Parts: sequence; C-alpha cells; structure tokens
Amino acid sequence: MQKVIAIDGPSASGKGTVAARVAAALGRAYLDSGALYRLTALHAQQQGVEWTDEAAVAALAAELPAEFSGSRVWLAGADVSEQIRSENIGMGASAVAALPAVRAALLQRQRDFLGVAGLVADGRDMGAVVFPDAELKIFLTADARVRAERRAKQLHIPCTGIEFERILSDIEARDEADRRRAAAPLRQLPDARLLDTSHLSIDESVKQVLDWYRE
Ligand code: CDP
Repeated sequence: MQKVIAIDGPSASGKGTVAARVAAALGRAYLDSGALYRLTALHAQQQGVEWTDEAAVAALAAELPAEFSGSRVWLAGADVSEQIRSENIGMGASAVAALPAVRAALLQRQRDFLGVAGLVADGRDMGAVVFPDAELKIFLTADARVRAERRAKQLHIPCTGIEFERILSDIEARDEADRRRAAAPLRQLPDARLLDTSHLSIDESVKQVLDWYRE
C-alpha cells in the first residue's frame, strides 16, 4: 500500500483544488500531474515541435526543465503558472497525453513526488498507472455544465452566451478525447470511490475525502 491519495477525474471537476486542500490538511506533498502534461505541451510549442510528433515530444518530456514551488510553476526559468492554464495549452496537453511515449517519459517524474510525508495526486491515471497501490482512490466528477460554470467563473466569463457555450463544448470535447484514447483512458476504477461534486461545495468535497481517508 502506498501512502498516496489518488484523485482522478475529468476536466474542470475541481479535483486540483480539492487535492491541494486535502494535501495541506494532511501535511502531504501535492502532485498536479496535469501540469506536467501542460508544461510538455507548452515546451513543445516553444521549441517548434508539433504536438503529434510522438518521439520529439517524448524527448522533450524526458528532459522537461520544470520546477514547482508552492502554487507556482516554472519552465526553463520562466514563471508560466498562468500561461499553462489557457484552453489552447489544455488542448495541447490532451493531445500530447494521448501519446504512450510521452506518458512513459513522465512516469518516474510523477512517482518522484512521493516522499516520506505521503502524497495527494490528481490527474487521469493516478490510481490506474502511476500509483496503483494507493491507499485511497477517488473518481471526482461533476456534470459537464457545472464544470463549465466553474471554469467560466475562473475566467470571469458570464455563465450564459456564446463564450460560455464554447467553454462547455471544449470541456465536452476534451472529456471525449480523454475517454476514447487508447493510452490511459479516463475511467472510474472498480476500487475507486465516486465523488460527484455537482451539488457540493469545495469544503464539503474536501471533508468527504478526509472522512473516507479516516475510515
Ligand atoms: O485542469 P483540467 O482538469 O482541465 O486539466 P489537467 O488536469 O490540467 O490536465 C490537462 C490534460 O492532461 C487532460 O485533458 C488530460 O488529457 C491530460 N492528463 C492526463 O492524461 N493524465 C494525467 N494524469 C493528467 C492530465
């Protein structure tokens, strides 16, 4: 059994916020695995490498010059914390994450986040591939419309209108791509607890995870 709480789920489900809060409450390290795929996509874009060029993207991922410090993320010495959150880089992350060689290149790097204090990790395949012996596995989700509303609020966009509908369709497209891909498809594992946060606040979601952990 690994001292890991693995939280997987679809885009904009709030799993990052919940995972970071749970990690803080338990004094554990936190791994935002999606940030590694986002950094890989950004790095490829900056180096003029196509997101579909598996060998070249995997080579960049293996040597990713990334650093994490608190909630900030650095790439080759530059703070890219906001830049990696764009929808464009989200699509790029989804594209490079479909390439098996890229996933393989990032595997050990993710496992290295587990130190003596334990870890809370969020992503798509934390429970299935990266930490299969995690002590607690959670599939955290919410209705697509609720997730789109959360993303819109983050971006200070109203929850009606064309821009909102575009966010919703982007989220649905990314879900579909993450579910259909052959490499580590997004799915709920048989040994994962289902946490549907459609009608839960962040505090309530965090409490539920901590309650399961303490059971
Ligand atoms: O913030 P959001 O949930 O939209 O995305 P993210 O967690 O930052 O992940 C961005 C993309 O990386 C996702 O669409 C997935 O395709 C991919 N990803 C993955 O394949 N495996 C992970 N462990 C984490 C992210």
